[in-house]
Amino acid sequence: MANLSEEIKKRRTFAIISHPDAGKTTLTEKLLLFGGAIHVAGAVKSNKIKKTATSDWMEIEKQRGISVATSVMGFEYEGFKINILDTPGHQDFAEDTFRTLTAVDSVIIVVDSAKGVEQQTRRLMEVCRMRNTPVIIFVNKMDREGRDPFDILDELESELKISVRPLSWPINGGANFKGVYNIYEHNLSLFAADKQRVSDRVDITDINDPVIDEAVGADDAEKLRSDIELIDGVYPEFEEQDYLDALVAPVFFGSALNTFGVKELLDCFIRIAPSPRPVQAVEREVVPTEEKFTGFVFKIHANMDPNHRSCIAFVKVCSGVFHRNQYYHHVRSNKQVRFAAPTAFMAQKKEVIDDVYPGDIVGLPDNGTFKIGDTLTEGELLHFKGLPSFSPEMFKYIENTDPMRTKQLSKGIEQLMDEGVAQLFVNQFNNRKIIGTVGQLQFEVIQYRLLHEYGASCRWEPIHLYKACWIESDDKEALEAFKRRKQQYMALDREGRDVFLADSGYVLDMAQQDFPKLKFHFTSEF
Ligand code: G4P
Repeated sequence: MANLSEEIKKRRTFAIISHPDAGKTTLTEKLLLFGGAIHVAGAVKSNKIKKTATSDWMEIEKQRGISVATSVMGFEYEGFKINILDTPGHQDFAEDTFRTLTAVDSVIIVVDSAKGVEQQTRRLMEVCRMRNTPVIIFVNKMDREGRDPFDILDELESELKISVRPLSWPINGGANFKGVYNIYEHNLSLFAADKQRVSDRVDITDINDPVIDEAVGADDAEKLRSDIELIDGVYPEFEEQDYLDALVAPVFFGSALNTFGVKELLDCFIRIAPSPRPVQAVEREVVPTEEKFTGFVFKIHANMDPNHRSCIAFVKVCSGVFHRNQYYHHVRSNKQVRFAAPTAFMAQKKEVIDDVYPGDIVGLPDNGTFKIGDTLTEGELLHFKGLPSFSPEMFKYIENTDPMRTKQLSKGIEQLMDEGVAQLFVNQFNNRKIIGTVGQLQFEVIQYRLLHEYGASCRWEPIHLYKACWIESDDKEALEAFKRRKQQYMALDREGRDVFLADSGYVLDMAQQDFPKLKFHFTSEF
């Protein structure tokens, strides 16, 4: 068997995140092209559910089918094993994305050079910041008329709240785009619009090399020199440790569609991006080089074929080596589990695998054993942290419309909640079930899947709620007093934790003011 620490060192597990349309799919595809994992552009079907109207169910079905294969794309490049974890583009699936971010060691953010930082990027960056995830930024679509690169850098800093350091620099943009100067490696790549081919690289001694003048013309060469001088004056020297500590984000410029600036990004990425990092469990920190296997479930994907209802649980290996056919401890149920056909994800295919190393994702067939956040170990009772439920933004009562199928409905709801599709709260006053989601689409997903997978039909009824927040207090009496006062608005989540259902921002503010001894949490992990 391969040496564990060698295997760990060569792994790079990351996600590419962006606002829809910035170029995430295109960049992913180009990275796979470099890795030799695919051979022509256009081969990757994206996992994006976005441009379609939100209620186009068949389209979503189709895309969900594709997305298992593209959920994790592993490939080899220059001796490194790279795992790209895909995240859904549609914002209604933001929670899926948040959870995927718990399984990566770093992130590449794609920003459209004309649009700058957009809303979803901002939200995803908040999650990265919470987890201190190192990020590299790729400013895409330089072949289009965009903004001034210095303005983009300013916007990145202020909107994403992180210091930036350009490691490549564009020579013009739009129709006049001539190439990028690689500040990290001191070379120049000349732009040629070409979707399949890698651009020409010009070797230069330094920024004053007259070869630059010949390549891009004296005026642009002069502008480049003054830009680089300004950059060196304004931005501190790039320190890898600052990037690893999530204090500084290196920035690259290019055009994913034209495979331009992508190799610069990838070559720098494999050198500086972290290999699997220690993972914090409630009990202790788990280091990847520990001999014993540990891992956690960060995603469960349902099989959409009604004849094979099994799911795939995606497990991130945190330490040791996962072996096929070996018994492991499923901590939540306190049971031994064993898998004869665990799958690895290589580019666009799944294959059965014998040994899986830290940083890699293993797919385990699941018939309802797993729940998001579950831990597998060799016996130790560990619970990995960092898979919070976020306070949902939309709420509806779920009502049974077929009394003969009550049991099926309950089972269906339980399992969909285990998969992390949405959150269930039970109002303690009237005992009604409330489903909370981050987007409208989830309600359709739930209704459709309950009917098709469990034969249970349901109806949604409106409930006017602003936010659900988890409450706790060291002062038992204060907590009880609050619960009495807000009786009608108290619910329990599936773990039996107290949740306050606030129907307006004003009510929530007042509650916080009137009950200073209570803590109000907007994620379930605290
Ligand atoms: P996403 O996954 O982030 O949602 O974005 P995606 O890669 O699908 O890219 C969105 C659109 O932007 C696509 O065009 C894609 O071809 C285009 N694009 C990506 N990178 C670049 C670039 O560097 N320059 C230019 N000019 N365009 C770029 P589309 O017309 O929406 O889709 P398609 O029909 O081309 O797939």
